Amino acid sequence: MRGTYKAVEVSAPGVLRVVERPIPEPGPGQVRIRVEACGICHSDAATVTGTYPGLTLPRVPGHEVVGRVDALGGGVSRWKIGQRVGVGLIAGEDGTCEPCRRGDSVNCQNPVVSGVTVDGGYAEMMIAEARGLASIPDELSSVDAAPLLCAGITTYNALRNAGLRGGDRVAVQGIGGLGHLGIQFARHMGFHTVAIGRGGDKEKLAKDLGAHSYIDTVVDDAVAVLQRMGGARAILATAPSGDAMGPLVSALAARGKLIVVGVPQDQIHLNASPLVFGGRSVYGSLTGTAIDQEDTLAFSVLEDIRPMIETAPLEQAADAYARMMQGKARFRMVLVTEGVKS
Ligand SMILES: NC(=O)c1ccc[n+]([C@@H]2O[C@H](COP(=O)([O-])OP(=O)(O)OC[C@H]3O[C@@H](n4cnc5c(N)ncnc54)[C@H](OP(=O)(O)O)[C@@H]3O)[C@@H](O)[C@H]2O)c1
Ligand SMILES: [Zn+2]
Ligand SMILES: [Zn+2]
Repeated sequence: MRGTYKAVEVSAPGVLRVVERPIPEPGPGQVRIRVEACGICHSDAATVTGTYPGLTLPRVPGHEVVGRVDALGGGVSRWKIGQRVGVGLIAGEDGTCEPCRRGDSVNCQNPVVSGVTVDGGYAEMMIAEARGLASIPDELSSVDAAPLLCAGITTYNALRNAGLRGGDRVAVQGIGGLGHLGIQFARHMGFHTVAIGRGGDKEKLAKDLGAHSYIDTVVDDAVAVLQRMGGARAILATAPSGDAMGPLVSALAARGKLIVVGVPQDQIHLNASPLVFGGRSVYGSLTGTAIDQEDTLAFSVLEDIRPMIETAPLEQAADAYARMMQGKARFRMVLVTEGVKS
C-alpha cells in the first residue's frame, strides 16, 4: 500500500486544515521533495483568502520551501536523490510566452506558481518542476534558507537591480519578513540604510539588523526626516499599505526610485509633482528566478545574513499564519516537518 503524507490545505476561504493525502509520483521533468521547512509569507494570504487570480481550492499554500529530493520524474538528470533544494513562488516558466522568449522568465505569462497553480510547501511532501529548483548551500540550515527563497530574493533582487551605487541612501519601509531581510541586504550592499517602521518597538531590532537610522512614523514624518537627510536614492516599500507607500515619493532625492514590492489591498495614491519635478519614479519588482535564488543564498552565506525566524510544527500552520497576519512574527514564521509515514 502506498503511504500518505500530511499537508495543510486551504479547503475553503479562510480555512487551513491538516489533511492526509496519498504520496504522489513526480511526472516528467518533476521531482518529489520531502519538505523540511517552509516559510509563511504575507503573500500566502492571497491563497488562504482564495483571492489569488486563477486560484482554485483546495490548495496547499507555501512558496518558501526547502527539502530533499525524494523521487525523480522522467528526464530529470540535474538533481540527485537526497539533494537539498528550494522552491520559491515562480517555480517554472513556460518558456514560450513573449516575456520568456525575451529572457524575462520571472514575468512569464503562464508560470507554475507554488501554492497557487500547484500545491506548495505547507506539507511533508511537494511535487516541483525540476527547472524551478534552487540548490541550497551546506552553510545554511533549512529553516534559515526557507525565508530567503521569497522574502530574501524579493528584497535582494529589487535592491541589486535598482542601479544604485555604494553609499547611496536607501530606505526600507515595513519591517516584517521582507523588510528585515531588506535592511540586512541594503547594509551589506554598502548603502546608507534607513529603516521606516511604525512604533518604537522595532527601532533596536532594525539597528541590530544593520540600519544606520530608524524612522518611527508614529512620531515622525518619514518624508520630512528623509528630506532633511538629503532624500533617498531608493525606497524599498514592503509594507502592505498603499496609504503608507504613496507619500514616500516625496521622500526621494531627484531621480530617486520608489520600488514597490509589497502588494497592498488598497490603492497607492500618487502626487504628480514630485514625479515630474525631480524625475522620480515608481515601479514594481517581482521575486526572481531559480538562479536569482542561488545568488541570494550565496550572498547571504558570503555576508553572513540570516533571517530572524520563529519555527512552528507543520500541524500548527493555522496558528503560525495568524501570528504572521497579526504582525507578531519576529520576523518570519517557518513551518518544520517531522517526517513522512510510509
Ligand atoms: N514583490 C514580491 O515578489 C513579493 C514577495 C513576497 C511578498 N510580497 C508582498 O510584500 C508584502 C510584505 O510581505 P511580508 O511577508 O514581509 O509581510 P509581513 O511579514 O506581514 O510584514 C509586513 C510588515 O509591514 C509593516 N507595515 C504594515 N503597514 C505598515 C505601515 N503603514 N507603515 C509601516 N509598516 C507597516 C508591518 O508592521 P507592523 O508590525 O507595524 O504591522 C509588518 O511588519 C506583502 O504585501 C506581500 O504580499 C511581495
Ligand atoms: Zn512570498
Ligand atoms: Zn513564459
